[in-house]
Amino acid sequence: MDDRIAVIGAGLMGAGIAQVFAARGYPVTVFDPLEEARAALPGRIAANLRLLSAPALPEDLVRTEATLPAAVAGATVVFEAAPEKLALKQSIFAELATATGPDCILASNTSVIPITRIAEPLPDAGRVIGTHWWNPPFLVPLVEVVAAERSGQHYVDRMMELLARVGKKPVRVRRDVPGFVGNRLQHALWREAQALIADGVCDAETVDDVVKNSFGLRLAVLGPIENADLVGLDLTLDIHRTIIPELSSLSGPNPLLEQLVDQGRLGFKTGGGFRDWTPEQVSEVRERLLRHLQQAVRGTD
Ligand SMILES: NC(=O)c1ccc[n+]([C@@H]2O[C@H](COP(=O)([O-])OP(=O)(O)OC[C@H]3O[C@@H](n4cnc5c(N)ncnc54)[C@H](O)[C@@H]3O)[C@@H](O)[C@H]2O)c1
Repeated sequence: MDDRIAVIGAGLMGAGIAQVFAARGYPVTVFDPLEEARAALPGRIAANLRLLSAPALPEDLVRTEATLPAAVAGATVVFEAAPEKLALKQSIFAELATATGPDCILASNTSVIPITRIAEPLPDAGRVIGTHWWNPPFLVPLVEVVAAERSGQHYVDRMMELLARVGKKPVRVRRDVPGFVGNRLQHALWREAQALIADGVCDAETVDDVVKNSFGLRLAVLGPIENADLVGLDLTLDIHRTIIPELSSLSGPNPLLEQLVDQGRLGFKTGGGFRDWTPEQVSEVRERLLRHLQQAVRGTD
């Protein structure tokens, strides 16, 4: 356990990533320019650990710093979890490239931006890779480890080993495409879900009912490729001949989504999005999700 971890950004994902390593005994240093974010970090991690019924962390295992160079001094691995803006991430990586040692891995937690674009301005981008964690990082096992165009294989291999050591399920993404693997799959489903509503096939609640009460139940134990093999590729081909030409092929966001955003219907935070939400329903959904994830993860221990 020689690695020293630094995390850039003490928000939702940065706090969770710091927690995963600290809970396994790794010293972690976190940088965030916002004093409130730095001050909130220990309480945030403590609340997550209580939720998991896990022991509190030893004091000082997670430290915060008010400058980036102070946070990454001596680090062997840096996880960047700052806001999803290309120019901001490029400037953070430019600073990281000079503030870290030559063998320190620099990993971005971007949701959908190709790592190659984040690393573009750097003369030497061999140690820049992607690590796409899922929320909440301390419950969802998957981390997509992304090799960018100039990433050195050695750094990808080191990251795969490190993530496995802290109990995550790392997978290799061989080509640095926007959205990597998980978000491409997820948003292909969301595109069709929104098209069904916009085209009047069913209402928003029905889309959620269909998924939660049918193939959603299977997805945690049967991936789509396993499923195709299970039903048979001959049947899959017959189905695809009929259905694929009918699926949404919109090349941008659905106009219904744009219209809802224009109307200020942003989802839970405004009391309504595609569906209407009372504060009680919002709390109920959040609690239900956490309970489900905890049970699902416990089941795989
Ligand atoms: N929220 C998710 O479900 C999720 C999942 C996977 C990946 N991501 C990605 O992770 C990254 C962080 O997302 P989040 O949800 O934690 O956001 P967040 O808003 O909760 O946290 C971002 C933090 O970055 C800080 N910050 C702002 N400017 C900074 C700078 N120059 N240097 C360092 N920190 C800075 C902010 O003060 C804030 O505390 C984004 O790229 C996001 O797309 C998010």
